Amino acid sequence: AAADTEYDVVVIGGGPGGYPAAIKAAQQGLKVACIEKRGALGGTCLNVGCIPSKAMLNNSYIYHQTKDNLKSRGIEVSDVKLNLDVMHKARVKAITGLTKGVEFLFKKYGVTYVKGTGKFNTANEIAVEGLDGTQSTLKAKNVIIATGSEVTPIPGIEIDEKRIVSSTGALELGKVPKKMVVIGAGVIGLELGSVWSRLGAEVTVVEYLGAIGAGMDSELAKSFHKLLSKQGLKFKMSTKVNGAKIEGDKVLVQVEASQGGKEETLEADAVLVSIGRRPYTKGLGLENVGVELDNRGRVVIDSEFKTNIPNIRCIGDVTFGPMLAHKAEDEGFAVSEMLATGHGHVNYDVIPSVIYTHPEVAWVGKNEEQLKGEGVKYKTGSYPFVANSRARTNDDTDGLVKVITDAETDRILGVHIIGPNAGEMIAEAGLAMEYGASAEDVGRTCHAHPTLSEAFREACLLASFGNAINF
Ligand code: FAD
Ligand code: NAI
Repeated sequence: AAADTEYDVVVIGGGPGGYPAAIKAAQQGLKVACIEKRGALGGTCLNVGCIPSKAMLNNSYIYHQTKDNLKSRGIEVSDVKLNLDVMHKARVKAITGLTKGVEFLFKKYGVTYVKGTGKFNTANEIAVEGLDGTQSTLKAKNVIIATGSEVTPIPGIEIDEKRIVSSTGALELGKVPKKMVVIGAGVIGLELGSVWSRLGAEVTVVEYLGAIGAGMDSELAKSFHKLLSKQGLKFKMSTKVNGAKIEGDKVLVQVEASQGGKEETLEADAVLVSIGRRPYTKGLGLENVGVELDNRGRVVIDSEFKTNIPNIRCIGDVTFGPMLAHKAEDEGFAVSEMLATGHGHVNYDVIPSVIYTHPEVAWVGKNEEQLKGEGVKYKTGSYPFVANSRARTNDDTDGLVKVITDAETDRILGVHIIGPNAGEMIAEAGLAMEYGASAEDVGRTCHAHPTLSEAFREACLLASFGNAINF
């Protein structure tokens, strides 16, 4: 990066928020640099988040199926063995291919990739400490903060990423722990708990609240809880963790009922801390320019992603909203359209959530608790996968589709799915909602047979007409 160049936009952070922002800005003719300090593009998501976790989820699922679930399908295999080293290599291969892909896109669209840590000197000047130790400064008309988030620690529990791990260490365990304790039954705990359980660990999940799934629709949370228990995950609900310490080659975890009670010690070979993530602005020099943070450390922005300093905008995990890669990406796209044209938009009402266990859980829009709270009159249609012919042919029938509609207008307000491929199916629901579809609209749309997506259509028929053909 030439020191005397003035960039239209400098993006700090090359994750799923920052890199699409940089590309979209460059595609619209702006001069763009993106500063990233981890030595690879793609942020948390590509390097230690979405991508490696899905590689481990997919391969552990195939292993588990091959080991335990092929015989009834007429496939006999013997001597199924786990080679964890090779499984990790497959994970790394997926990551490297994709991070290199982003680097290629930067070259293709003319984004300057600056490898180092960015820090505000002023609102228009960013100091960069290069990964190679060199110091430089970048001049910027506009700055986009996209520095993401980090693991929320538990006071008194020290993460060593070997035995007491965050998601980062949990993706890379060198051997399958005999016993694993997962603290927090949220998205990370359930996904990575599933991975190690499938690979042979005895997994106990400790959750502070009375329900799993960090705020999902409570009917789905209950049936998800049952399905995961059936798969062998153990749960200690309404339980808090008081501490964890390493003793010899074990970790001792002290827990007690959330409301107080007798303390109990759980013994584990590995402990995963997954109680949430928090915004990351360390070393960014926000104090030098006076960018405002809220009481949870999030960068405060307006509806145009502007901070209190007008030429500094902010997107992704480090500001408000769900900490999801596709939310960060949509904001990246919108913020750069705003910079180039004055207009850009994200529809926060239609951001899907997916938990990539098996079956998957996916939802978009409002759940019943939220609608009750808002006093909205609604109808529901629930269709179980056991009544779906494709799920039957696949012998994969756990779960259901629940569609929630406005009782007066039939407009779809929320869709909640547990089931095979729920994460792919939810896209249709999102599209329907984006276009303001009614359940009848979807119910009257021809869906290919036999497909899982017919379950969504039938749930819409149920919500709209009160009955379906195959149920
Ligand atoms: P990040 O991806 O965190 O990127 C920020 C980048 O900024 C980092 O690379 C950091 O090195 C860099 N940076 C920070 N400060 C500076 C600085 N001063 N100078 C230069 N660079 C800096 N989301 C999903 O939607 N689907 C999933 O399946 C999913 N799975 C996940 C699994 C795990 C285990 C984890 C931990 C997260 C997962 N997430 C998932 C969440 C997702 O990773 C985040 O929502 C997403 O990465 C946020 O993007 P971002 O660009 O805001 O921040
Ligand atoms: P989370 O917010 O999803 O879940 C944390 C859970 O820990 C909650 O159920 C909470 O009640 C519980 N908890 C909090 N403090 C506790 C304590 N002291 N003891 C016991 N339980 C406690 O957070 P998680 O799983 O760490 O994930 C962080 C974020 O990463 C997610 O919110 C999500 O935004 C993102 N993510 C998304 C994925 C996806 O989209 N598939 C996958 C993984 C992460």
